[in-house]
Amino acid sequence: MPREIGSEFHWDPSYLTAATDESPLPARHKLFATGCGALTALLRQLAPRGRLHLPSYFCMGVAEALSETVRISWYRHLPDAGGPRLETLRAGQGDVVLAQNLFGRETGEAWNAWMAAHPDVVVIEDHSHDPFSRWARTSQAAYAVASLRKTLPLPDGGLLWSPQERALPSPYGNPHGSDLKLVAMLLKSAWLAGSDVDKTAFRALQQRGEHVLLGSAAPAGALTTAILPLLDIERLQRTATANVRAMAEMLGMPPVKGTNPFRLQILRETRQERDDLLGHLAANGVYAPVHWRQDRTGLWSGDEQAAALSSRMLTLPVDHRCTPADLRRLAGVLGSPVRGEPARR
Ligand SMILES: Cc1ncc(COP(=O)(O)O)c(C=O)c1O
Repeated sequence: MPREIGSEFHWDPSYLTAATDESPLPARHKLFATGCGALTALLRQLAPRGRLHLPSYFCMGVAEALSETVRISWYRHLPDAGGPRLETLRAGQGDVVLAQNLFGRETGEAWNAWMAAHPDVVVIEDHSHDPFSRWARTSQAAYAVASLRKTLPLPDGGLLWSPQERALPSPYGNPHGSDLKLVAMLLKSAWLAGSDVDKTAFRALQQRGEHVLLGSAAPAGALTTAILPLLDIERLQRTATANVRAMAEMLGMPPVKGTNPFRLQILRETRQERDDLLGHLAANGVYAPVHWRQDRTGLWSGDEQAAALSSRMLTLPVDHRCTPADLRRLAGVLGSPVRGEPARR
């Protein structure tokens, strides 16, 4: 089997750099174990009288977890370059809105205008797909959150800050799960280096670690806390972004929007075609996730277009780890031309 592409990050000390005074982190922030835990802690603090408005194309697992703390409503936001359809957002005083930089392709201008027109509504921005974008760094929102392990090779981490300098909740509970994930990361790097390490053993540790971490509002683990200030985030992002753009070009896709787009989403004609492609990729050692499944029999947005798109999308795991040879191999595995993001309809 050739070198795998995608799946969980391994521990890679080559991305550590000398500590500098210019931390990319917001001056005042709290570091939770997970993004979902940070959101839960914040919502408990806010205890909104009204509802939490979520984008209709979003992680349903997170929505489900948050629905235990607050009542949920939905507004339309599709992965189609159309941005949030703010005319579908019916939020008033006492409500909270979650805005997201979906796949790191957005600028936040529409949200800034909306927030200025609705000063009574608390907006939380979710920057998980590009935690250090210009939008994230110049945010005007009441609060902002970013799950860090989606883009950075860390076992855990949910960053919470308040661009408006409001009071932040503190993490609570004992950190668990990140230790298992860290061991899995260490074993995976040994495996990648050719050691005789059992892949199923570190996969099991990763999965157990994720399971234990799920929704944790505990503080981030020791590794993330110590390593985050030392990570060469700029280089990680630069490499990932160059890879995404190169892959899109190799596949004949239109140029990808966003300063640091979050991997590469592709759309198939039907669910079956998408699922067949996922299987074909996995059989060739390419582990492509789906952002995000939306099952109409479980908690879902009620937005038919969002659910339909989620059944046809997959994410090519093009990130900072890919070498030029990986990109060529991935293009070869994909074979026939693929279609990119759906045009705005
Ligand atoms: C956009 C987005 N926000 C927040 C989260 C929650 O992050 P965590 O997995 O750290 O709880 C996720 C997780 O998938 C996500 O995709």
